[in-house]
Amino acid sequence: MPRNIIDVTDLSVAEIDELIATAEDITTNPAKYQDACLHKQLATLFFEPSTRTRLSFESAMLALGGSVLGFSEANSSSSSKGETVGDTVHTVSCYADIIAMRHPKEGAPYAAAQFSEVPIINAGDGGHNHPTQTLTDLLTIHREKGRLDGFTIGFCGDLKFGRTVHSLVNALSRYDNIRFVLVSPEELKLPRYVKEQSLKSKGIPYTQTTDLESVISQLDILYMTRVQRERFFNEEDYLRLKDSYILTPEKLQNAKPDLSILHPLPRVNEIAVAVDRDPRAAYWKQVKNGKFIRMALILKLLDIHV
Ligand code: NCD
Repeated sequence: MPRNIIDVTDLSVAEIDELIATAEDITTNPAKYQDACLHKQLATLFFEPSTRTRLSFESAMLALGGSVLGFSEANSSSSSKGETVGDTVHTVSCYADIIAMRHPKEGAPYAAAQFSEVPIINAGDGGHNHPTQTLTDLLTIHREKGRLDGFTIGFCGDLKFGRTVHSLVNALSRYDNIRFVLVSPEELKLPRYVKEQSLKSKGIPYTQTTDLESVISQLDILYMTRVQRERFFNEEDYLRLKDSYILTPEKLQNAKPDLSILHPLPRVNEIAVAVDRDPRAAYWKQVKNGKFIRMALILKLLDIHV
């Protein structure tokens, strides 16, 4: 059976530390890795839109000397003819050495992996999980704070449908002394199953609020998210909730001087562009980190040692 990354806990904490160390080495010594995946092929199967995830996967494979193939919308694949995800993945696994797959249905990458002869990476499944964004987030936190434990992190926005939030909460629940502050409208609270699995069962402290300004001064990290329009059942609810939180320089006045602001992007309206100039904004660095950590992950899953 190939090694798949469907959930962030498919990697142990020690393996995540190892990936972060490899990503650091790749950043400092890129030339050392430029032929590491020569003659290897990555397929990106994106049944849902993407900019950063797909292109960072492709850019990662190209920087390792490999090549890429795939599709960026379901309509351009045989799924539009009614082919099952299992058959599509079975086909692609005959051509590629590793597959990154995004799908609007929760669990689709897990189901697809049963039909694959090569490693499958979940590049986002519906409103469920997004483990490689979490690796990107962990590398960013590690670079910003020098550690992955002992801080208060606030998650703000759409905690219900935000798959990056679910995966990051799950990942951080394995480190010591982390306090979670969950900021969302009532309708977009963190799902009960995430709270049960990642927080309550482990006795991890968390608070829930609808008011960002009342908690911002407590935070070491603020993880902003977009309201996930595509997961809503009706447009009216989206329109009512979409601008619940807009981070501005004024709102940051009470925040800690060493706060790190993260956002998986794309941003719609939830962080004012003026915040980009604040030294605490880490989301553009996060975009760069996504490539390095995916390079490290590809090497690991292909069992290539440099
Ligand atoms: C996120 C996603 O697709 O879940 N984007 C990303 O991969 N960087 C977040 C989002 O779409 O809001």
